[in-house]
Amino acid sequence: TDAYETILVETRGAVGLVTLNRPKALNALNAQLIRELCSALEAFEADDAIGAMVVAGGEKAFAAGADVKEMAAKTYAEAYLQDFVSDWKRVSALRKPLIAAVAGYALGGGCELAMMCDIVIAADDARFGQPEITLGIMPGFGGTQRLARAVGQAKAMDLILTGRMMDAAEAEGSGLVSRVVAPERVLDEALEAAAKIASFSRIAALAAKEAVQVAAESSLTEGVRFERRTFQALYATEDQKEGMAAFVEKRKPVFRNR
Ligand code: CAA
Repeated sequence: TDAYETILVETRGAVGLVTLNRPKALNALNAQLIRELCSALEAFEADDAIGAMVVAGGEKAFAAGADVKEMAAKTYAEAYLQDFVSDWKRVSALRKPLIAAVAGYALGGGCELAMMCDIVIAADDARFGQPEITLGIMPGFGGTQRLARAVGQAKAMDLILTGRMMDAAEAEGSGLVSRVVAPERVLDEALEAAAKIASFSRIAALAAKEAVQVAAESSLTEGVRFERRTFQALYATEDQKEGMAAFVEKRKPVFRNR
């Protein structure tokens, strides 16, 4: 982890924290940062001691988008052959819950990164938008798809076609954001939520995340069928026995992830 130059990586108990750290560029997401972020999250994913992860930015910006200076001279052939946006598949493939702690600007790829996270905790000064159109391009890290699913077509079209920003209140009201808190609380709120998730049965947490993700990809009938089978499968775990026994005995459960 000492080798990372664009992010800071630390653990807080069972929570893995990655802080984007290119403050002079408002955490613009260049190729190195994307690579390092993916590697750090995958290392947490592989670490048995970690149950949930947080991605945070700085005070002024969560991330102001893909790095425009790095992209400016790219040709179509380079964009297509390097396929530099496809690294993000590594973030959406994570099975452990991932929380975004967003203060300040979450624009373009920054907004798209927040939308790849399972829970978005925003400071009341957060600003979300997909301003790519102002640069002669369009969202490329999943924004047209995830924003439309998160906030509906009407607002997604408005944001993506005009490039305007929305504040935290509008983002929460339209379903993009899970919680809004004071700026000085945003990281702790995210870390506490992650610690809470990490305290539960990891099998239950990963299964629940997976089932909610299926909602975006399937019909209601298929989704409910997937949920039912997954729900039933959890009765094969010791954690289910422990969780319910603890409830009946009025004590705290001790989950062992098996
Ligand atoms: N890429 C590269 N550098 C960026 C950047 C970005 N996306 N966003 C900000 N920076 C840099 C600025 O160039 C500036 O650097 P210098 O000091 O070297 O000039 C530094 O960060 C500080 O930024 P500003 O001086 O612009 O700060 P501000 O407070 O005046 O404005 C802002 C803040 C409104 C967020 C403004 O920086 C801005 O509009 N940034 C670009 C936002 C954007 O267009 N994002 C979309 C990128 S494209 C994308 O993400 C494609 C995709 O979907 C895959």
